[in-house]
Amino acid sequence: MRIESIRLKNFRMFRDVTLDHLPNFCVFVGANGTGKSSLFGLFGFLRDALTYNVKEALAKRGGFKEVANRQSQGAIEIELKFRDLKSTSAVVTYLLVIDLLDQRPVIQRELLKYRPSPRGGGSKHFVDFSLGNGFAIPEKVSKNQKEVNQEPIEQQLESPDLLALKGLGQFQQFKVASEIRRFIENWHISDFQRSEVRMSERAIGYDEHLSCQGDNLALFARYLQENQPETYKKIMRELTGRVPGFSHIETILEGERIYLKLWQTAFSEPFLLWQVSAGTLTLFAYSLLLHDPKPHSLLCVEEPEKQIYPDLLMGLADEFRSYTKKSAQVFVSTHAPAFLDGVHLDEIFWLTHQEDGSSQVHSATDNHLLKSLTQVGDLPGELWSQGFFRGAHP
Ligand SMILES: Nc1ncnc2c1ncn2[C@@H]1O[C@H](COP(=O)(O)OP(=O)(O)O)[C@@H](O)[C@H]1O
Ligand SMILES: [Mg+2]
Repeated sequence: MRIESIRLKNFRMFRDVTLDHLPNFCVFVGANGTGKSSLFGLFGFLRDALTYNVKEALAKRGGFKEVANRQSQGAIEIELKFRDLKSTSAVVTYLLVIDLLDQRPVIQRELLKYRPSPRGGGSKHFVDFSLGNGFAIPEKVSKNQKEVNQEPIEQQLESPDLLALKGLGQFQQFKVASEIRRFIENWHISDFQRSEVRMSERAIGYDEHLSCQGDNLALFARYLQENQPETYKKIMRELTGRVPGFSHIETILEGERIYLKLWQTAFSEPFLLWQVSAGTLTLFAYSLLLHDPKPHSLLCVEEPEKQIYPDLLMGLADEFRSYTKKSAQVFVSTHAPAFLDGVHLDEIFWLTHQEDGSSQVHSATDNHLLKSLTQVGDLPGELWSQGFFRGAHP
Protein backbone atom coordinates (compact mmCIF):
# COMPACT_ATOMS: atom_id res chain seq x y z
CA MET A 1 0.00 0.00 0.00
CA ARG A 2 1.13 3.53 -0.58
CA ILE A 3 0.02 7.12 -0.27
CA GLU A 4 -1.25 8.46 -3.57
CA SER A 5 -2.07 11.99 -2.49
CA ILE A 6 -2.10 14.32 0.50
CA ARG A 7 -4.38 17.32 0.93
CA LEU A 8 -3.80 19.66 3.84
CA LYS A 9 -5.88 22.58 5.01
CA ASN A 10 -4.82 24.80 7.90
CA PHE A 11 -2.09 22.40 8.98
CA ARG A 12 0.89 24.50 10.14
CA MET A 13 1.84 26.82 7.26
CA PHE A 14 -0.12 24.77 4.74
CA ARG A 15 -3.34 26.70 4.34
CA ASP A 16 -4.46 24.75 1.31
CA VAL A 17 -2.06 22.35 -0.35
CA THR A 18 -2.53 19.22 -2.44
CA LEU A 19 0.23 16.81 -3.34
CA ASP A 20 -0.99 14.55 -6.10
CA HIS A 21 0.40 11.53 -7.97
CA LEU A 22 2.99 10.87 -5.28
CA PRO A 23 5.57 8.38 -6.53
CA ASN A 24 7.12 5.74 -4.27
CA PHE A 25 10.23 7.85 -3.78
CA CYS A 26 9.51 11.52 -3.00
CA VAL A 27 12.20 14.12 -2.39
CA PHE A 28 11.45 17.60 -1.04
CA VAL A 29 13.63 20.68 -1.33
CA GLY A 30 13.07 24.28 -0.28
CA ALA A 31 14.57 27.12 1.75
CA ASN A 32 14.57 27.00 5.55
CA GLY A 33 11.16 27.55 7.04
CA THR A 34 9.21 26.57 3.92
CA GLY A 35 7.67 23.57 5.68
CA LYS A 36 9.67 20.44 4.93
CA SER A 37 9.82 19.42 8.59
CA SER A 38 6.18 20.40 9.07
CA LEU A 39 5.16 18.20 6.16
CA PHE A 40 7.17 15.30 7.55
CA GLY A 41 5.71 16.10 10.96
CA LEU A 42 2.32 15.19 9.55
CA PHE A 43 3.30 11.53 9.55
CA GLY A 44 4.41 11.59 13.17
CA PHE A 45 1.24 13.46 14.07
CA LEU A 46 -0.99 10.84 12.46
CA ARG A 47 0.90 8.00 14.07
CA ASP A 48 0.65 9.62 17.50
CA ALA A 49 -3.05 10.35 16.96
CA LEU A 50 -3.54 6.67 16.23
CA THR A 51 -1.35 5.39 19.06
CA TYR A 52 -2.77 7.74 21.71
CA ASN A 53 -5.47 10.20 20.66
CA VAL A 54 -5.74 13.49 18.81
CA LYS A 55 -5.56 15.59 21.98
CA GLU A 56 -2.25 14.04 23.00
CA ALA A 57 -0.82 14.20 19.49
CA LEU A 58 -1.64 17.93 19.45
CA ALA A 59 -0.36 18.52 23.00
CA LYS A 60 3.05 17.02 22.07
CA ARG A 61 3.27 19.70 19.39
CA GLY A 62 2.19 22.67 21.48
CA GLY A 63 -1.60 22.23 21.21
CA PHE A 64 -4.23 22.86 18.55
CA LYS A 65 -3.35 26.54 18.11
CA GLU A 66 0.26 25.70 17.20
CA VAL A 67 -0.61 22.92 14.78
CA ALA A 68 -3.48 24.78 13.10
CA ASN A 69 -2.53 27.55 10.71
CA ARG A 70 -2.08 30.79 12.62
CA GLN A 71 -3.75 33.07 10.11
CA SER A 72 -6.85 31.01 9.71
CA GLN A 73 -9.59 30.34 12.23
CA GLY A 74 -10.62 27.12 10.54
CA ALA A 75 -10.36 23.45 11.34
CA ILE A 76 -7.33 21.33 10.45
CA GLU A 77 -8.14 19.10 7.49
CA ILE A 78 -5.99 16.16 6.52
CA GLU A 79 -6.95 13.98 3.59
CA LEU A 80 -4.90 11.04 2.41
CA LYS A 81 -5.60 8.80 -0.55
CA PHE A 82 -4.24 5.26 -0.40
CA ARG A 83 -3.64 2.90 -3.29
CA ASP A 84 -2.71 -0.77 -3.68
CA LEU A 85 -4.43 -2.09 -0.59
CA LYS A 86 -4.52 -5.87 -0.25
CA SER A 87 -8.23 -5.85 0.51
CA THR A 88 -9.39 -3.65 -2.36
CA SER A 89 -8.13 -2.41 -5.68
CA ALA A 90 -9.96 0.87 -5.13
CA VAL A 91 -8.28 4.12 -4.11
CA VAL A 92 -9.29 4.70 -0.50
CA THR A 93 -9.78 8.20 0.88
CA TYR A 94 -9.25 8.91 4.56
CA LEU A 95 -10.38 12.31 5.81
CA LEU A 96 -9.74 13.74 9.25
CA VAL A 97 -11.11 17.12 10.34
CA ILE A 98 -9.97 18.41 13.72
CA ASP A 99 -11.39 21.50 15.38
CA LEU A 100 -11.78 23.14 18.75
CA LEU A 101 -15.08 22.79 20.59
CA ASP A 102 -15.34 24.63 23.92
CA GLN A 103 -11.54 24.99 23.82
CA ARG A 104 -11.11 21.21 23.49
CA PRO A 105 -9.76 19.55 20.35
CA VAL A 106 -12.30 17.21 18.82
CA ILE A 107 -12.64 15.17 15.67
CA GLN A 108 -15.23 17.07 13.71
CA ARG A 109 -15.30 14.42 10.98
CA GLU A 110 -13.52 11.15 10.26
CA LEU A 111 -14.30 9.47 7.00
CA LEU A 112 -13.14 6.41 5.11
CA LYS A 113 -14.58 6.11 1.65
CA TYR A 114 -14.01 4.24 -1.59
CA ARG A 115 -15.79 2.78 -4.53
CA PRO A 116 -15.94 -0.99 -3.80
CA SER A 117 -15.96 -1.99 -7.48
CA PRO A 118 -15.26 -0.12 -10.71
CA ARG A 119 -18.95 -0.41 -11.60
CA GLY A 120 -20.07 0.36 -8.07
CA GLY A 121 -21.31 3.86 -8.75
CA GLY A 122 -20.17 6.69 -6.50
CA SER A 123 -17.84 6.18 -3.58
CA LYS A 124 -19.34 4.81 -0.43
CA HIS A 125 -18.66 5.96 3.12
CA PHE A 126 -17.50 2.86 5.02
CA VAL A 127 -16.58 4.77 8.14
CA ASP A 128 -18.22 8.07 8.99
CA PHE A 129 -17.84 9.64 12.41
CA SER A 130 -18.39 13.04 13.92
CA LEU A 131 -17.68 14.06 17.54
CA GLY A 132 -17.38 10.45 18.65
CA ASN A 133 -20.57 9.16 17.03
CA GLY A 134 -20.99 7.49 13.70
CA PHE A 135 -21.22 4.27 11.80
CA ALA A 136 -19.02 1.72 10.10
CA ILE A 137 -19.99 -0.78 7.43
CA PRO A 138 -18.35 -4.21 7.70
CA GLU A 139 -16.67 -5.44 4.54
CA LYS A 140 -16.55 -8.87 2.99
CA VAL A 141 -14.72 -11.43 5.13
CA SER A 142 -12.82 -12.81 2.15
CA LYS A 143 -13.18 -13.09 -1.60
CA ASN A 144 -14.48 -16.68 -1.42
CA GLN A 145 -16.78 -16.36 1.51
CA LYS A 146 -20.17 -14.85 1.10
CA GLU A 147 -20.66 -11.28 2.15
CA VAL A 148 -21.48 -10.64 5.76
CA ASN A 149 -24.09 -8.18 6.83
CA GLN A 150 -23.35 -4.93 5.03
CA GLU A 151 -25.68 -2.83 7.13
CA PRO A 152 -24.04 0.13 8.88
CA ILE A 153 -23.25 -0.52 12.52
CA GLU A 154 -23.73 2.50 14.76
CA GLN A 155 -20.85 3.09 17.13
CA GLN A 156 -20.05 5.48 19.91
CA LEU A 157 -16.43 6.19 20.76
CA GLU A 158 -15.31 6.78 24.33
CA SER A 159 -14.27 10.31 23.54
CA PRO A 160 -14.54 12.75 20.60
CA ASP A 161 -10.76 12.95 20.26
CA LEU A 162 -10.33 9.22 19.58
CA LEU A 163 -9.88 7.98 16.04
CA ALA A 164 -12.48 5.48 14.85
CA LEU A 165 -9.63 4.01 12.80
CA LYS A 166 -7.90 3.06 16.03
CA GLY A 167 -10.85 1.06 17.35
CA LEU A 168 -12.25 -0.34 14.11
CA GLY A 169 -8.78 -1.23 12.88
CA GLN A 170 -8.65 -3.97 15.51
CA PHE A 171 -11.56 -5.88 13.98
CA GLN A 172 -11.17 -8.28 11.06
CA GLN A 173 -14.51 -7.30 9.58
CA PHE A 174 -13.25 -3.75 8.94
CA LYS A 175 -10.46 -4.86 6.65
CA VAL A 176 -9.65 -1.57 5.00
CA ALA A 177 -9.55 0.25 8.34
CA SER A 178 -7.26 -2.47 9.78
CA GLU A 179 -4.98 -2.32 6.79
CA ILE A 180 -4.63 1.45 6.99
CA ARG A 181 -4.10 1.26 10.74
CA ARG A 182 -1.32 -1.32 10.36
CA PHE A 183 0.21 0.70 7.51
CA ILE A 184 0.44 3.82 9.68
CA GLU A 185 1.76 1.90 12.69
CA ASN A 186 4.58 0.57 10.52
CA TRP A 187 5.91 4.01 9.46
CA HIS A 188 9.51 4.76 10.32
CA ILE A 189 10.06 8.47 10.88
CA SER A 190 13.78 8.80 11.26
CA ASP A 191 15.04 11.06 13.99
CA PHE A 192 18.55 9.74 13.91
CA GLN A 193 20.51 11.12 16.87
CA ARG A 194 24.21 10.53 16.67
CA SER A 195 24.58 11.11 20.43
CA GLU A 196 22.02 8.36 21.08
CA VAL A 197 23.79 6.02 18.67
CA ARG A 198 27.01 6.39 20.56
CA MET A 199 25.16 5.25 23.67
CA SER A 200 23.54 2.37 21.84
CA GLU A 201 25.49 -0.52 23.28
CA ARG A 202 22.66 -1.98 25.27
CA ALA A 203 21.94 -5.08 27.23
CA ILE A 204 21.57 -8.26 25.22
CA GLY A 205 18.42 -9.09 23.31
CA TYR A 206 17.15 -8.72 19.77
CA ASP A 207 15.65 -5.77 17.98
CA GLU A 208 14.21 -6.58 14.58
CA HIS A 209 14.17 -2.94 13.44
CA LEU A 210 16.41 0.05 13.84
CA SER A 211 14.66 2.52 16.15
CA CYS A 212 13.80 6.01 14.86
CA GLN A 213 16.53 7.58 17.06
CA GLY A 214 19.03 4.85 16.19
CA ASP A 215 19.61 4.14 19.87
CA ASN A 216 19.46 0.36 19.32
CA LEU A 217 22.05 0.32 16.54
CA ALA A 218 24.25 -2.31 18.22
CA LEU A 219 21.30 -4.56 18.96
CA PHE A 220 19.91 -4.35 15.43
CA ALA A 221 23.38 -4.84 13.91
CA ARG A 222 23.75 -7.96 16.07
CA TYR A 223 20.36 -9.20 14.89
CA LEU A 224 21.36 -8.81 11.22
CA GLN A 225 24.82 -10.28 11.73
CA GLU A 226 23.34 -13.40 13.35
CA ASN A 227 20.18 -13.88 11.33
CA GLN A 228 21.03 -12.41 7.93
CA PRO A 229 24.79 -12.98 7.65
CA GLU A 230 24.78 -12.50 3.86
CA THR A 231 23.05 -9.15 4.17
CA TYR A 232 25.46 -8.13 6.91
CA LYS A 233 28.43 -9.06 4.71
CA LYS A 234 26.92 -7.00 1.88
CA ILE A 235 26.68 -4.00 4.20
CA MET A 236 30.34 -4.46 5.13
CA ARG A 237 31.35 -4.63 1.45
CA GLU A 238 29.39 -1.44 0.73
CA LEU A 239 31.11 0.38 3.59
CA THR A 240 34.52 -0.79 2.40
CA GLY A 241 33.88 1.01 -0.87
CA ARG A 242 32.75 4.17 0.89
CA VAL A 243 35.09 4.65 3.85
CA PRO A 244 38.84 4.56 3.07
CA GLY A 245 40.72 2.09 5.25
CA PHE A 246 37.52 0.46 6.54
CA SER A 247 37.69 -3.27 7.18
CA HIS A 248 34.55 -4.31 9.07
CA ILE A 249 32.32 -3.70 12.08
CA GLU A 250 31.88 -6.51 14.52
CA THR A 251 29.17 -6.94 17.12
CA ILE A 252 30.57 -8.52 20.25
CA LEU A 253 28.75 -9.92 23.23
CA GLU A 254 30.64 -9.23 26.42
CA GLY A 255 28.93 -10.09 29.66
CA GLU A 256 25.39 -8.78 29.39
CA ARG A 257 26.06 -6.19 26.68
CA ILE A 258 26.54 -5.97 22.95
CA TYR A 259 29.41 -3.81 21.75
CA LEU A 260 30.32 -2.56 18.29
CA LYS A 261 33.94 -2.63 17.24
CA LEU A 262 35.26 -1.09 14.04
CA TRP A 263 38.30 -2.61 12.41
CA GLN A 264 40.48 -0.64 10.02
CA THR A 265 43.02 -2.18 7.68
CA ALA A 266 45.97 -0.18 9.06
CA PHE A 267 45.45 -1.02 12.75
CA SER A 268 45.67 -4.26 14.67
CA GLU A 269 43.35 -3.06 17.42
CA PRO A 270 39.70 -2.12 16.76
CA PHE A 271 38.08 1.24 17.49
CA LEU A 272 35.18 1.47 19.89
CA LEU A 273 31.86 3.08 19.00
CA TRP A 274 32.61 6.42 20.65
CA GLN A 275 35.82 6.69 18.59
CA VAL A 276 34.17 6.03 15.21
CA SER A 277 33.67 9.00 12.84
CA ALA A 278 30.15 10.42 12.82
CA GLY A 279 29.97 10.02 9.05
CA THR A 280 30.96 6.34 9.14
CA LEU A 281 28.39 5.76 11.83
CA THR A 282 25.70 7.49 9.78
CA LEU A 283 26.56 5.43 6.69
CA PHE A 284 26.45 2.26 8.77
CA ALA A 285 23.07 3.21 10.25
CA TYR A 286 21.56 3.96 6.80
CA SER A 287 22.90 0.68 5.43
CA LEU A 288 21.31 -1.21 8.31
CA LEU A 289 18.03 0.66 7.92
CA LEU A 290 17.88 0.19 4.15
CA HIS A 291 18.70 -3.54 4.39
CA ASP A 292 16.05 -4.23 7.02
CA PRO A 293 14.67 -7.69 6.11
CA LYS A 294 11.17 -6.53 7.08
CA PRO A 295 11.00 -3.10 5.48
CA HIS A 296 8.75 -0.36 6.83
CA SER A 297 5.72 0.65 4.80
CA LEU A 298 6.93 4.25 4.80
CA LEU A 299 10.32 5.71 5.53
CA CYS A 300 10.75 9.43 6.28
CA VAL A 301 14.26 10.80 6.46
CA GLU A 302 15.18 14.46 6.76
CA GLU A 303 18.46 15.65 5.29
CA PRO A 304 20.18 12.26 4.98
CA GLU A 305 23.23 14.05 3.58
CA LYS A 306 24.36 15.23 7.03
CA GLN A 307 27.94 14.07 7.76
CA ILE A 308 28.23 12.26 4.41
CA TYR A 309 30.86 12.93 1.74
CA PRO A 310 29.18 14.57 -1.30
CA ASP A 311 30.40 11.98 -3.83
CA LEU A 312 28.39 9.30 -1.99
CA LEU A 313 25.09 11.16 -2.11
CA MET A 314 23.95 10.20 -5.61
CA GLY A 315 24.41 6.55 -4.65
CA LEU A 316 22.54 7.11 -1.41
CA ALA A 317 19.57 8.50 -3.36
CA ASP A 318 19.65 5.36 -5.47
CA GLU A 319 19.60 3.18 -2.37
CA PHE A 320 16.58 4.98 -0.97
CA ARG A 321 14.83 4.36 -4.29
CA SER A 322 15.78 0.68 -4.16
CA TYR A 323 14.08 0.42 -0.77
CA THR A 324 10.78 1.22 -2.49
CA LYS A 325 11.08 -2.01 -4.49
CA LYS A 326 10.25 -3.80 -1.23
CA SER A 327 6.71 -2.37 -1.52
CA ALA A 328 7.52 0.66 0.58
CA GLN A 329 7.38 4.41 0.10
CA VAL A 330 10.21 6.76 0.95
CA PHE A 331 10.01 10.49 1.73
CA VAL A 332 13.24 12.43 1.97
CA SER A 333 14.04 16.14 2.38
CA THR A 334 17.40 17.49 1.30
CA HIS A 335 19.56 20.60 1.00
CA ALA A 336 22.22 18.81 -1.05
CA PRO A 337 22.39 19.31 -4.85
CA ALA A 338 24.59 16.18 -5.08
CA PHE A 339 21.78 14.10 -3.55
CA LEU A 340 19.21 15.64 -5.91
CA ASP A 341 21.42 14.72 -8.86
CA GLY A 342 20.55 11.09 -8.08
CA VAL A 343 16.79 11.77 -8.08
CA HIS A 344 14.41 11.61 -11.06
CA LEU A 345 12.44 14.74 -11.91
CA ASP A 346 9.08 13.10 -11.23
CA GLU A 347 10.30 12.31 -7.70
CA ILE A 348 11.09 15.93 -6.84
CA PHE A 349 8.85 18.45 -5.10
CA TRP A 350 9.82 21.91 -3.99
CA LEU A 351 8.29 24.16 -1.39
CA THR A 352 7.90 27.91 -1.64
CA HIS A 353 7.05 30.59 0.87
CA GLN A 354 4.04 32.71 -0.10
CA GLU A 355 3.57 36.38 0.74
CA ASP A 356 0.71 35.59 3.11
CA GLY A 357 3.06 33.40 5.21
CA SER A 358 1.74 30.11 3.90
CA SER A 359 3.65 27.54 1.84
CA GLN A 360 2.97 25.87 -1.47
CA VAL A 361 4.31 22.63 -2.89
CA HIS A 362 5.26 22.25 -6.56
CA SER A 363 5.95 19.12 -8.53
CA ALA A 364 9.12 19.37 -10.66
CA THR A 365 7.65 17.17 -13.35
CA ASP A 366 4.89 19.73 -14.00
CA ASN A 367 7.52 22.28 -15.05
CA HIS A 368 8.09 22.12 -18.84
CA LEU A 369 11.48 23.84 -18.78
CA LEU A 370 12.85 21.48 -16.13
CA LYS A 371 11.46 18.56 -18.05
CA SER A 372 13.14 19.50 -21.31
CA LEU A 373 16.45 20.37 -19.61
CA THR A 374 16.66 17.02 -17.82
CA GLN A 375 15.71 15.27 -21.07
CA VAL A 376 18.86 16.68 -22.68
CA GLY A 377 21.02 15.50 -19.78
CA ASP A 378 21.02 18.27 -17.17
CA LEU A 379 20.99 16.96 -13.62
CA PRO A 380 18.25 18.14 -11.22
CA GLY A 381 20.72 19.19 -8.50
CA GLU A 382 22.60 21.43 -10.92
CA LEU A 383 19.35 22.97 -12.15
CA TRP A 384 18.24 23.58 -8.59
CA SER A 385 21.59 25.29 -7.76
CA GLN A 386 21.23 27.45 -10.88
CA GLY A 387 17.83 28.71 -9.73
CA PHE A 388 15.56 26.81 -12.10
CA PHE A 389 13.31 25.73 -9.22
CA ARG A 390 11.61 29.10 -8.97
CA GLY A 391 11.04 30.28 -5.43
CA ALA A 392 12.91 27.39 -3.85
CA HIS A 393 15.78 29.62 -2.80
CA PRO A 394 15.74 32.08 0.12
N1 LIG B 1 0.78 26.95 13.07
C1 LIG B 1 1.49 27.59 12.16
N2 LIG B 1 0.94 28.49 11.33
C2 LIG B 1 1.67 29.16 10.41
N3 LIG B 1 3.00 28.96 10.23
C3 LIG B 1 3.61 28.07 11.03
C4 LIG B 1 2.91 27.33 12.01
N4 LIG B 1 3.78 26.52 12.65
C5 LIG B 1 4.97 26.75 12.08
N5 LIG B 1 4.88 27.70 11.11
C6 LIG B 1 5.98 28.24 10.27
O1 LIG B 1 6.77 27.15 9.87
C7 LIG B 1 8.15 27.42 10.10
C8 LIG B 1 8.88 26.13 10.38
O2 LIG B 1 8.93 25.40 9.17
P1 LIG B 1 9.66 24.01 8.98
O3 LIG B 1 8.65 23.01 8.65
O4 LIG B 1 10.54 23.73 10.15
O5 LIG B 1 10.52 24.35 7.70
P2 LIG B 1 11.78 23.61 7.04
O6 LIG B 1 11.86 22.24 7.60
O7 LIG B 1 11.48 23.65 5.57
O8 LIG B 1 12.96 24.46 7.37
C9 LIG B 1 8.13 28.36 11.28
O9 LIG B 1 9.29 29.17 11.27
C10 LIG B 1 6.89 29.18 11.02
O10 LIG B 1 7.18 30.24 10.16
MG1 LIG C 1 13.47 21.36 8.61
